[in-house]
Amino acid sequence: MSYDVPTVSRTEPTRDSRLYIRNLVKRDPLTGLADDVRKGLSAQPKRFLPKYFYDELGSQLFEAICLLPEYYLTRAENEILQRYSDDIVAALDGQKTLVEMGSGSASKTRLIIEALLRIQPELLFMPVDISATALESSSRILLQSYPQLRIEAYAADYFAGLAELGKKPRARTLALFLGSNISNFDLEEALRFLRAMRSVLQKGDALLLGADLKKDPAVLEAAYNDALGVTSAFNLNVLARINRELGGTFDLHAFRHRAFYSETMGRIEIYIESLANQQVRIEKLDLTVDFAEGELIHTENSYKYDKAGIERLAADTGFKLARTWLDSQERFSSNLLLAN
Ligand code: AVI
Repeated sequence: MSYDVPTVSRTEPTRDSRLYIRNLVKRDPLTGLADDVRKGLSAQPKRFLPKYFYDELGSQLFEAICLLPEYYLTRAENEILQRYSDDIVAALDGQKTLVEMGSGSASKTRLIIEALLRIQPELLFMPVDISATALESSSRILLQSYPQLRIEAYAADYFAGLAELGKKPRARTLALFLGSNISNFDLEEALRFLRAMRSVLQKGDALLLGADLKKDPAVLEAAYNDALGVTSAFNLNVLARINRELGGTFDLHAFRHRAFYSETMGRIEIYIESLANQQVRIEKLDLTVDFAEGELIHTENSYKYDKAGIERLAADTGFKLARTWLDSQERFSSNLLLAN
C-alpha cells in the first residue's frame, strides 16, 4: 500500500498498447495534509489519519515492516496464496477479469495472475491504487512477465476507483483486497467500502478479502513492537513528515511509539506518546500545539477478525462468505466473498 499523490489529474499516454493508466487523483496533497493535521491536533484526544504514514519514506518503511520476523501477516498471506491460488480462482466459472484495490507493488497478485493464466489464455487486470507511480512501475513489470496480460489501471482513492470500475462492462470478476488492509477501517468504514465494492460487482462475482485473525495478544503486540524499531520509525515518520512538509518543530526524541492490543475492541491501537510537557510550532499552519507528558496522539487501529466477524461483514454488505483459507499456523485468513 502506498499513498504518494501527484498534484495533476491527467490521462497518461502510454506507449504500450497493453497498458492504459488513468489518473483520477485531483487533490493537492499538501492542502489535504495541512487541513487534516490542523483538525487532528485540535481534536481531543489528538489524532492523525493513517493514510499520512505513506509518503515515500513511509511506504519504504512499510515494505520493511512486511519483512520483519515479528510481522507474520505478509508471509502468512503469501503462504495461503502460494498454496491455494488454483483453488481460489477455480471457485468462479468462466473467463475472469481481475480487479485489485490498493494493489501497491502487486507482488502477491502475481500468484493469482499465474493461477488465472493456467486456466485461461489471456487476462485483463484492473488495479486501483492511490499512487500513480506505484501503479505505473508495477504494471510495467507485470506486463514484462506476462505477455497474455492487459492492464487498465486507475490511480485513485478506493471510492473514486470503484466509481470508475462501475462504468466498465466486465467479464466475471474476481476482486482482491489483500494485506488485511480492511483492518485499518473501523466498522462503519469497512461496511461502506464493502458496499461500494459490492455495487460494482455482478451476482456470482467474488471478492478475495485478506484479514488478520484474533490470536494471542503477545503475538499481535510483537508484530507492532518489533525489536528493530521499524514500526516505531514508521509511526514517528508522521511527525518527521509534518516537520518536512509543514515546517513543524517536532523533536522526534521527545516522543515515542506505543502499540497495544485492546481485547474489548478487538484491535491493535497505535499511538505516539509525548515524553515531556512541550510545545511544538507548525509554521505553515501558523499553529502552536501544547503536549502534556504522557499525552497520546492516536495514529492507527488495526482490527483483528474471526470467522463470525467476517461472516457478519459479508452478510451486511450483499456478500456470502463462501470459503476461507488459512496459513499453516492459522494466523491469517483469505476469504472468498461471493456477491449474491
Ligand atoms: C496496512 N495495514 C494492514 C498494516 C496493519 O497491520 O494494520 C499497517 C501497519 N501499521 C503498523 N504496522 C503495519
